[in-house]
Amino acid sequence: MRKPIIAGNWKMHTTLKEALALARGVRTGVQDIDDVETVVCPPFISIAAVSEVLAASRVEVGAQDVHWEQKGAFTGEIAPGMLEGLVSYCIIGHSERRAYFGETDEWVNKKAKALLAYGITPIICVGESLEQNQNGETDAFVGGQVGAALAGLTDEQVAGLVFAYEPIWAIGTGLTATSADANRIIGLTIRGRVAELYGEATAQAIRIQYGGSANAKNIYELMLQPEIDGALVGGASLTVESFVTMIKETARARGL
Ligand code: PGA
Repeated sequence: MRKPIIAGNWKMHTTLKEALALARGVRTGVQDIDDVETVVCPPFISIAAVSEVLAASRVEVGAQDVHWEQKGAFTGEIAPGMLEGLVSYCIIGHSERRAYFGETDEWVNKKAKALLAYGITPIICVGESLEQNQNGETDAFVGGQVGAALAGLTDEQVAGLVFAYEPIWAIGTGLTATSADANRIIGLTIRGRVAELYGEATAQAIRIQYGGSANAKNIYELMLQPEIDGALVGGASLTVESFVTMIKETARARGL
């Protein structure tokens, strides 16, 4: 059984003060929920403080990005070793980074390897644009992103990964993929591609989230789908109430 994982991506939304308040609220809100993994991904500047607040809690901390080099003259960047001990997860390949900051499949692959070398689990985001979706290119495009992200990784490394399927047209727009469509792409396209490359056992082990306007109202329906192992949540992770409700709804949908 794959443990559901709900991760909040706070993006560029929280000051240090706001991040700490949110972290404390989430910590209290999920303290009785054992069987859903809860992750929060604050901006870099708040990671150390949030990690301290959440140290003895059930809530894990993630970063929103990383550089693949261990150190060097890369002004403004953060190396994986700087995150070690502070985070368990790191989002890579988010569509906003691909669109606005030039992140490529090759970078995603380098970042995945760099994180794994430090024992940090990548949350690898993939997803198609509206145009690709309408042209029927979703399976080919997303399958390609999956293969490229995994190049050179071992079975064991892949089995521990998290993917997030985030159709670009659903992020921050209020539009969600139907839970049946999300389930199909996650199962056939993403898990299917991993099965082709690494075999069925590895494919069954990886966890794959849905992302894109997931919220307290639609999470129950999404989590009823057998292939969807959780959600990567932007907007709805920014208030304690909606995020904690999402964790509780996930537990309810899964009968946990
Ligand atoms: P959203 O963002 O939930 O606000 O659509 C999801 C994401 O970008 O990870």
